[in-house]
Amino acid sequence: MATLDFSDIQGFLLTSYASNMPCANYLLLTITDAPSCRKWLTQISGLITTGKDRKSDFSLNIAFTAPAFKKLGITANDLQTFSAPFQEGMSTAVRQQLLGDSGNSAPDNWSWGNAQNPVDILLLLFANGEEELGKQVTLRQTEIKDSGGVTLIKVLGAGRQPDSKEHFGFLDGIGQPIIEGTGREAKQLSRTGHATVIKAGEFILGHENEMLKPDPLPVGLNLPAFGMNGTYLVFRQLEQHVHQFWQYIDQVTRDASGNSVPPEQDKLGAKIVGRWKSGAPVTTHPHTDPEIPPGVNQNNNFSFAKEDDTGLGCPIGAHIRRTNPRDSLFDDPEVSLRTVKRHRIIRRGRSYGDRSANVFVDDGKERGLHFICLNSNIERQFEFMQQSWSNNPSFSALNNETDPLIGQRNDGNVFSIPACPVRTRIHDLPEFVTTKGGAYFFMPGMKALNQLAGGL
Ligand code: HEM
Repeated sequence: MATLDFSDIQGFLLTSYASNMPCANYLLLTITDAPSCRKWLTQISGLITTGKDRKSDFSLNIAFTAPAFKKLGITANDLQTFSAPFQEGMSTAVRQQLLGDSGNSAPDNWSWGNAQNPVDILLLLFANGEEELGKQVTLRQTEIKDSGGVTLIKVLGAGRQPDSKEHFGFLDGIGQPIIEGTGREAKQLSRTGHATVIKAGEFILGHENEMLKPDPLPVGLNLPAFGMNGTYLVFRQLEQHVHQFWQYIDQVTRDASGNSVPPEQDKLGAKIVGRWKSGAPVTTHPHTDPEIPPGVNQNNNFSFAKEDDTGLGCPIGAHIRRTNPRDSLFDDPEVSLRTVKRHRIIRRGRSYGDRSANVFVDDGKERGLHFICLNSNIERQFEFMQQSWSNNPSFSALNNETDPLIGQRNDGNVFSIPACPVRTRIHDLPEFVTTKGGAYFFMPGMKALNQLAGGL
């Protein structure tokens, strides 16, 4: 088992801070002058929250894009030791195709992270309340302004939400792997009745991964072990069209007289996600939402192959079955589980924008998910999940279906819901989610951060 140096690992790798810091802001910066930027980095590096810190007021973490590393003096040769998607960036033509960022989601329409609005540095700020957050953001803004080396280009808000649900109305943050060596198994077990322990190297560079070897460690002539205890951070601003989601569901679940049927709406929503609004899995509760109260074990202890092979509970193409097929990927459940462990991510996203007062009505306000995930290998983990599972029209022998929640829309998208005696198929799913911005970042370990600040 890996021995982890928590003082070298940024705290965000180990916790979302959600339980005691419900308010967050993400500051997007560009570097305007490298020497001054380094001075600013030296100044704020002492404030960065590590995996050893136990803070209750605020937390701060930092990550960099490849152009930022270039500006800070990492040579072209050294940069080549980083993963290819990170070097290339999220908005290239290749990545666009691979991630399904077409139409409204095309990088040309993004408000940040594209060629028109590039980003160098991401500062992640978390606080125990709006007041503390405001105070911390003002302090950081002043330091940035005074630095002469970095410019603030955007503040992305992720304010306090009334509950732990995302904007479509479903409890979020349940299916999450546990990093081996962090000692978090017991906590996860009591929260969800289940803990998938994954080798540390899947999320923290420099450690053994699920292939029993470490992923390539970004190194270079002058940067031995620069990547140690770092990770790749994927950030995607995903706008959620809440009224479109629920209007579509209403329309396809109406009875023969054209009346809305709320229990059928809830059921179809749950089939699309794979969990009811309360978080209960449709595999174990196929008919109605047991409405588990918040705080009570949000069941994650179930199997698709053994309990729900044909998808009568959770459809094969549902969001959580595509993004974590568990034991159902191949005929052999054990081989499936082993394989799936190589394609997991740690999700650290938070909702932005106000909750809809009425989910069926377009109030003209933007809301969505600042989707953030952490992984050691962007291609094998995040991109594989998005491309080969969510956006794959023939995932698990389906036909012309993509992830009904987040998948790229092709002509006449379908979603099949297995049922006895006959399955239901719903057609022409509209786009429920649009990409509005994004970038691939590297979140270095503390030693690497200090090295970066000190001029390599
Ligand atoms: C606006 C966009 C999205 C929404 C509203 C959304 C919503 C949800 C919900 C409600 C769950 C079930 C609760 C849970 O297990 O936490 C879930 C699970 C999950 N989602 Fe998403 N999601 C979105 C985007 C994505 C993206 C882009 C990915 C990766 C490509 C992703 C990967 C996952 C994974 C891995 C799980 C856990 C599956 C499991 O372990 O059972 N999601 N999501």
